[in-house]
Amino acid sequence: MTTLATTASWDAWLRTRSAVRTARDMQRSDNSRHALFDLASNDYLGLSSHPRVRQAAISALNCLGTGATASRVASGTWQIHRELEAELSRYTGRSQALVFSSGYCANLGLLGALGGPGSLMLLDAHAHASLIDGARLSGAGTARFEHNNLDDARAKLHANAQSPAPKPRVVVVVESVYSVLGDAAPLQQLAELCAQYNALLLIDEAHSLATVLAGSAVNAAGLAQAENVLVTATLSKALGAQGGAVLFGGSRAELWREHLLNTARTFIFDTALAPAAAAAAHAALELATGERIAGLAANALMIRRVLNAEENLAGRVEQAPGAVQSVRMKSPQQALLAAALLREHGIAVSCFRPPSVPDGISRLRLAAHAQQDPAELAAALKVVARTISDVES
Ligand SMILES: Cc1ncc(COP(=O)(O)O)c(C=O)c1O
Repeated sequence: MTTLATTASWDAWLRTRSAVRTARDMQRSDNSRHALFDLASNDYLGLSSHPRVRQAAISALNCLGTGATASRVASGTWQIHRELEAELSRYTGRSQALVFSSGYCANLGLLGALGGPGSLMLLDAHAHASLIDGARLSGAGTARFEHNNLDDARAKLHANAQSPAPKPRVVVVVESVYSVLGDAAPLQQLAELCAQYNALLLIDEAHSLATVLAGSAVNAAGLAQAENVLVTATLSKALGAQGGAVLFGGSRAELWREHLLNTARTFIFDTALAPAAAAAAHAALELATGERIAGLAANALMIRRVLNAEENLAGRVEQAPGAVQSVRMKSPQQALLAAALLREHGIAVSCFRPPSVPDGISRLRLAAHAQQDPAELAAALKVVARTISDVES
């Protein structure tokens, strides 16, 4: 009897939630992206299908098996994890790295390991869900500052410093390149500001690792060995693999790594990254260099230039230095319709709309890839512009 009543109440709840999503036009889908011109995926360097990356994964699979079979602190640390951590440190100019099973887990693990009642997490208003969740789970006080607004960040740091019971450990949480708008954070100024207030700066490099010639935006900003900077990254975007990492620099790099190895719950209580993914990421790092990254930058520039030159889109393309290029749309409905029509034209773009957009503005998000043929890309962009014009007319 009780079981039936429970089942009925879950059933009613599931149906109501589904009806609410439909009424608000907010149903998500997991459409396949095959055989489309790819302006949607995060495979920025096209490495997920590179023969050497595949071969590295296959060899690891054949030699080591399909899974790591245990947590890193049990028996799940393999030589390939250590080699990947050494290569990630070298590639980013940092001194130490700790590899997690995803970028999401790296963020949850790091923020959790920094949290507790004496900590305050100050997050940029556009911070990714994994950073928000990590801050919430960490047990620290949390506050937001306006997106990329140094004055607001300073005001919040100042307010903590002046409060009768200031939190002694403050972490400012940002992304190097933001995932929806594609705009960059002012990393040097943020690091200086944090140093003034003795705060840590946590920089999520999910969208910048292996997309800049210096390897990472933190390295490009001259912060690879900054004492007060902690970095997270994902191996699933430009590296085309799977997994995440926390990267440490400065004189306390080893101490930081040891602290996380002992306290990051998503490191301790999660099965380690599969050996094939670790091997793929390692091989990808060797390929994520000069010409490929320059090709990505050239295609990103072409997306910005071509779309900005269209009469109906001028001024609607965000200022974005990396692979992610975003076009503001006039309504969520038009954004959805444009993305659906583009699929029919064989072009995959991402559609972001409330509640997944930090500022309430719906957007089409176009990702530049190094391997896109410039002529095909130019043709696809013409279709994008025409389709947006059609849905808005
Ligand atoms: C900014 C940011 N951080 C973290 C993640 C999570 O990375 P992963 O997909 O490896 O879990 C993402 C992925 O969407 C992201 O965009």
